[in-house]
Amino acid sequence: MNDPLLEIDDLRVDFDTRAGLVQAVRGVSLTLGRGETLGLVGESGSGKSVTAQAVMGLIDVPGRIAGGAVRWNGMPLVGEGVRRRPRRIWGREITMIFQNPMTSLNPLMTVGAQLGEVIHLYLGLRGAAARTRAAELLDAVGISGASRRLDQYPHEFSGGMRQRVMIAMAIASEPRLLIADEPTTALDVTIQAQILELLAGLQEKLGLSIILITHDLGIVAGLCHRVAVMYAGQIVETGTVDDIFARPGHPYTQGLIRSTPRLDAVEDRLVSIDGTPPGLRTPPEGCAFRPRCPAAQAACHAPQRLASHGAGHVACCRAGVDAWDVGAA
Ligand SMILES: Nc1ncnc2c1ncn2[C@@H]1O[C@H](COP(=O)(O)OP(=O)(O)OP(=O)(O)O)[C@@H](O)[C@H]1O
Ligand SMILES: [Mg+2]
Repeated sequence: MNDPLLEIDDLRVDFDTRAGLVQAVRGVSLTLGRGETLGLVGESGSGKSVTAQAVMGLIDVPGRIAGGAVRWNGMPLVGEGVRRRPRRIWGREITMIFQNPMTSLNPLMTVGAQLGEVIHLYLGLRGAAARTRAAELLDAVGISGASRRLDQYPHEFSGGMRQRVMIAMAIASEPRLLIADEPTTALDVTIQAQILELLAGLQEKLGLSIILITHDLGIVAGLCHRVAVMYAGQIVETGTVDDIFARPGHPYTQGLIRSTPRLDAVEDRLVSIDGTPPGLRTPPEGCAFRPRCPAAQAACHAPQRLASHGAGHVACCRAGVDAWDVGAA
């Protein structure tokens, strides 16, 4: 890829909690190109949100960036090489929709006033001009009757509509990267599909890059160009959506695919992955998936090593070595 927009390079994030040190992100490396949608998947606690928060400069005590760097257009943004806080990037060029949208809107302010704040802050517009822009934004996210809707409060909007408002706020500054953390988890399936369609439409229209965080591979298949699979604070596989679904290299990815419901499934049984993820307080030596891996060998006591598994596809270095099939094990 030429000139990635975003580079995450060996990023580490620790939380110094009373119960001990939690290594939430343990050496994550990722790149994102212009106009690209990357799906970040993995089960609960694998470090997806913390990775996104690090990119947004939101890691705060008791958390800290323990190593690595995030670069934006080649410029140090987080971690190594940062001289002063690059304030004009966050909220403007990179915006984020947080995991719990219902608590991200202020219940005491009208939707118009909240959008107006963002528009004033990032576009410098006030009064009638700001209101016109706010109405345009609501229109862009598929909320009709925008001028009436601007005077309503969040509780007068349905869950799906509130999520659309969140998206409107996130695109108000005309960002180049939108990070959407589980943007549809709280919504029912029909509304989910509409929100995903909206994101896809906005991406095409605005040339946005998107990082879509989800635990649902079905969503990734529909919307993303590339996927990165996280497990216990690390990336265990990355590749194009087509490659990941056709030739998943890591047994964890294979398990995730098998445990994703499919409309065209021949099997009527969902397969779950045996075992539980490791605690991040004392991450295991070597490959973190080893205790659950049907193909684990003595060599897997050494730190996880990823290897090329085809063009732009990186996975566990042992992928394809053996009878490499979780279900058959
Ligand atoms: N502020 C915090 N203080 C202490 N530990 C934290 C904090 N935030 C996150 N963690 C820990 O970091 C790890 C990764 O959490 P993260 O929220 O990134 O998971 P996730 O992949 O987003 O999971 P989910 O799918 O449930 O949203 C977890 O073990 C979590 O408990
Ligand atoms: Mg999360």
